[in-house]
Amino acid sequence: MRIDFVSLFPEFFDAFFSHSIIKRAIEAGRLTMSVTNPRDFAHNKHNQVDDTVYGGGLGMLMMAPPLFEAVESIPVSHDSRKRVIFLGPTGQRFTQEKAKQLAADYDQLILVCGHYEGIDHRVEEHLIDEIISIGDYVLTGGELPAMVVADAVARMVPGVLGTTASGQEDSFYYPLLEEPQYTKPSEYRGWKVPDVLLSGHHANIAQWRLEERVKRTLKKRPDLLDRALTKEEVSVLNKLGVMLTEQGRIKDNKD
Ligand SMILES: C[S@@+](CC[C@H](N)C(=O)[O-])C[C@H]1O[C@@H](n2cnc3c(N)ncnc32)[C@H](O)[C@@H]1O
Repeated sequence: MRIDFVSLFPEFFDAFFSHSIIKRAIEAGRLTMSVTNPRDFAHNKHNQVDDTVYGGGLGMLMMAPPLFEAVESIPVSHDSRKRVIFLGPTGQRFTQEKAKQLAADYDQLILVCGHYEGIDHRVEEHLIDEIISIGDYVLTGGELPAMVVADAVARMVPGVLGTTASGQEDSFYYPLLEEPQYTKPSEYRGWKVPDVLLSGHHANIAQWRLEERVKRTLKKRPDLLDRALTKEEVSVLNKLGVMLTEQGRIKDNKD
């Protein structure tokens, strides 16, 4: 997959490209990442990319021409399934499901980062396929949100993680929260790792993990259980004494 960032601050991405899983995936040729700076497409000699808001108002907006020309300059392969996405608080909220869908449906994402008070609305209307928000709060720029989206999508690209299983075991993929996990030492300050995890009994470990996932989700994010539950989840909930409707949904998921 190819991911292009359109940003006035290319240096924000240096650390992202040069560490850990993203770095290895770029080196292995599974991901291509690149930044295009709209300032390189500014029309006047001061390299201006922002201007005041028509009708009055505080702050500056990113102008349409440098953004259009920056996006249009990005190479697109002939058969590319590409999506141009603006990162902004007015978009649909980003989820694991969305990350999976973007990785499956597209070969190229162009992530456009806003700054200042945002962008000229004509960019949203005529250049962008969709807007994604990373949450109900306002950040200074779209660079962090673009990296959040790129990271989550990259993890869903086949071969980017060491094994496909590791992505599937994370929180939300299933979708349940991940169970508590432990590493060495098996005892620290008197706090012991649960015996079952040291038992080597794979079936018991798998059952313990499922139970812990369901318990943790019930406690911290009961909204994730408001769906058709699997047979295994129903059986754990029965064991926990949680009341279910005839359709297998939780009756009252308050603690
Ligand atoms: C200061 S914000 C502008 C906020 C804009 N005036 C508004 O109220 O919607 C500057 C830029 O940061 C990015 N941004 C801020 N919050 C974001 C969020 N929650 N999700 C995605 N992008 C965000 C957007 O690209 C936005 O154009």
